[in-house]
Amino acid sequence: MRTDRVNTGETDRMKQKLIQMALDARRGAYAPYSHYQVGAALLADDGGVFTGCNVENASYGASCCAERAAVFRAVGEGKRRFLAIAVAGGMEGREPVEYARPCGICRQVLREFAAGNDMTVIVAKSAGDYEEYSLSELLPNSFGGESIQ
Ligand code: THU
Repeated sequence: MRTDRVNTGETDRMKQKLIQMALDARRGAYAPYSHYQVGAALLADDGGVFTGCNVENASYGASCCAERAAVFRAVGEGKRRFLAIAVAGGMEGREPVEYARPCGICRQVLREFAAGNDMTVIVAKSAGDYEEYSLSELLPNSFGGESIQ
């Protein structure tokens, strides 16, 4: 995880906290159309954590993913730089059985606010079963605001 100020034990505890918060946030998902429920927990550079869930709409294109819901909530609270995000998703009524990796649009939105243009992305099925990526791995050669002069 991208934080120089914490030791390994603290980093592991933070990962577990983010995963648990993502799993909890998933319970708030509003997904009556896909029945696919996603939760996300986003770590800001000041240590704050912001959660989100997917919110669908009868006009399907108006739906919002959990990751973007978390980013928009955090930015609305004045946060602009994020170190890590945990995501957990799966069909309603069961624990996640697949890794719910962020969609392309969410990867781009995360890129906009990634501290140092990169962040840790944790994709969890459970507290003990997760993948860990860097955002730059999931979205290589990305486009960002620094390209617009
Ligand atoms: N979804 C997310 O919340 N995050 C993603 O990265 C991919 C998909 C949601 C959107 C929709 O409500 C449901 O999962 C099925 O696509």
